Amino acid sequence: MVSDRERWDARHALGKGEPAHSPDPFVAEVLAELGPGRGRRALDLACGTGRHALVAAERGFAVEAWDVSPMALEQLLAHASARGVSVATREVDLTQLPPDTPPAGLVVVADFLDRDLFPRLGSLLIPGGSLVISTFTVDFPGPRPSGRFRLERGELTRDLPGLERVRAVEGGGRAGLWARRREDS
Ligand SMILES: C[S@@+](CC[C@H](N)C(=O)[O-])C[C@H]1O[C@@H](n2cnc3c(N)ncnc32)[C@H](O)[C@@H]1O
Repeated sequence: MVSDRERWDARHALGKGEPAHSPDPFVAEVLAELGPGRGRRALDLACGTGRHALVAAERGFAVEAWDVSPMALEQLLAHASARGVSVATREVDLTQLPPDTPPAGLVVVADFLDRDLFPRLGSLLIPGGSLVISTFTVDFPGPRPSGRFRLERGELTRDLPGLERVRAVEGGGRAGLWARRREDS
């Protein structure tokens, strides 16, 4: 069976040398509202070639970017170097969260859906820290991503353990969530 790492390395190899993609509009909107990162720790999970890690780093967050694909992380580092920002990378298979992770003030998950991961995301945040999710829903036109990687309608409005919703948006086949870890959790 082909692993996530092999499958995604092959896909990322095809895009090697392309400029960094622009950030997802919902993620960009929340990053703008959060204001300067002032050195706060941020995690970009399943970061790909780093479109959100790069913007967060440019806004002053101390970013660690995780992906299962070393090829993606290599491209991220090239983009970061070209843009004069620093991003730490870590090869992580998100089917198992690394146990030695200090919590962050910001966690971003874009265009990646693993429903087993969602209930564990609060544990990656400091109290008051922000989680930003943005991805495809069943209403997204076109064949990709396949059905199992699409959210149901309204799925991001369901409660996540220890988190309170700040904003949820849905439309045009995309959904976004900004939530904060409860101060008392
Ligand atoms: C559609 S891309 C999204 C990349 C990035 N978040 C963005 O918005 O541009 C999905 C990413 O998930 C990564 N990925 C797939 N399975 C993974 C896993 N089990 N653990 C960590 N990353 C994974 C892939 O390598 C790929 O970079």
